[in-house]
Amino acid sequence: VSYDESCSKRQRLLVVANRLPVSAKRTGENSWSLEMSPGGLVSGLLGVAAEFETKWVGWPGVDVYDVVGKNALSKSLADMKCIPVFLEEVFDQYYNGYCNGILWPILHHMGLPQEDHNDTNKTYQTQYDAYKKANRKFLDVIIENYEEGDIVWIHDYHLLFLPQYLKEYNNKIKIGWFLHSPFPSSEVFKTLPSRSELLRSVLTADLLGFHTYDFASHFVRTCTRILGVEGTHEGIVDHGKVTRVAVFPIGIDPNRFLKACELPEVRQQMTELKERFAGKKVILGVDRLDMIKGIPQKFLGFEKFLEENMDWRDKVVLVQIAVPTRNNVPEYQKLKSQVHGLAGRINGRFGSVSSLPIHHLDCSVDLNFLCALYAIADVMLVTSLRDGMNLVSYEFIACQEAKKGVLVLSEFAGAAQSLGAGAILVNPWDVTEVSSAIKEALNMPAEERDERHRLNFQYVKTHSAKKWGDDFISELHDTLTESDMKIKK
Ligand code: G6P
Repeated sequence: VSYDESCSKRQRLLVVANRLPVSAKRTGENSWSLEMSPGGLVSGLLGVAAEFETKWVGWPGVDVYDVVGKNALSKSLADMKCIPVFLEEVFDQYYNGYCNGILWPILHHMGLPQEDHNDTNKTYQTQYDAYKKANRKFLDVIIENYEEGDIVWIHDYHLLFLPQYLKEYNNKIKIGWFLHSPFPSSEVFKTLPSRSELLRSVLTADLLGFHTYDFASHFVRTCTRILGVEGTHEGIVDHGKVTRVAVFPIGIDPNRFLKACELPEVRQQMTELKERFAGKKVILGVDRLDMIKGIPQKFLGFEKFLEENMDWRDKVVLVQIAVPTRNNVPEYQKLKSQVHGLAGRINGRFGSVSSLPIHHLDCSVDLNFLCALYAIADVMLVTSLRDGMNLVSYEFIACQEAKKGVLVLSEFAGAAQSLGAGAILVNPWDVTEVSSAIKEALNMPAEERDERHRLNFQYVKTHSAKKWGDDFISELHDTLTESDMKIKK
């Protein structure tokens, strides 16, 4: 029986990611409210979940120490097929420390931050130990919930030890692992202490997936250089065991956005926004407030544009939604003040009593309002310094059927590989280039906008999250079937 006949609809999946698709807030001893979690991983996975019989395992966005609270939260989450992992005492060193203080910058080519020897809680080693403990907590929850035949699909850099721990527990468990961030050149990854153990663990999975060819080949080369294993076009070969490595560019669920744009509430919000910005072109930025998103570089590019184009000064506004994230990691705190400083300077230089060039908001916005913003924007400005994919670009395109606005996109976002034909690509480090791209986007003739939008929309429609999930799981089935056949021979 082929994968398509037997499994495409009801294959059982345990999706394991650091973050559940919903984050919890306590509203009483026994009560919790749940709201959608931020980030591209959740956005992409939501488009997949309905296709399979999916259960999610992950951290619920909050730590709970009392049994009453844990039980109540687990019950609310169960209705959404979510199973919480409570990280408790290891959370800070695991999440703020190892995941987002060490791995995240390394994966995004930003190098290893200096080790803080004065605080024993903050050395590489203590954070690494907490990381391992956290991965074991995930393991325990999976063991409690695993049923024979489940595919365990592990996501992202938070859980690099999980493939190994799971295979040690039961070698027959089918494991896929997908990296939502970039993977850097081997020269960057080499600096990471304990690099070999991390790579060896990942290689115990059956299939490894990356967004782009570049990330996959960086990974393969890193393994060959650091571990001395063999890299082939199929993946990595180590003592006869092949770990398949392949490319699966993630997408969104375009219908979720298309439908939202039709809602009367969203149409009303669009009308209000258009009135609010009447007579001005709107440039939009929507990013988590993260170093990798290049928000300071975006502001500098916009400042240069205002400097050089006096005639545009009263006719354009940059609306930047900066979604708060990882507030307890020092680098993120510094970034917030830097961004505020720049917005203040630019508004001070080019604003007037009645109008400000930058509308900067430190908040998340709900899906409907986000769709209204996407739909009325003339230009979407994405200046990531490195980005796994950047699904915000996809979401913008899905909401632009009527307006056909222009996407200005960093060449360092994974999305540049897929939306390059329709977007204006920029090097975000080059303020002059960003400024020229803004000008080109604002002045672009309607026919060219239509054509660029058509190309992008076609891509976003056909390369959906559902396709991404189907492709990954189908490839995992093929990989397992091939290896079964090799064993039988
Ligand atoms: C990126 C990562 C995800 C993460 C998301 C939000 O997209 O790849 O794994 O969930 O950012 O970050 P947070 O730390 O808030 O979960």
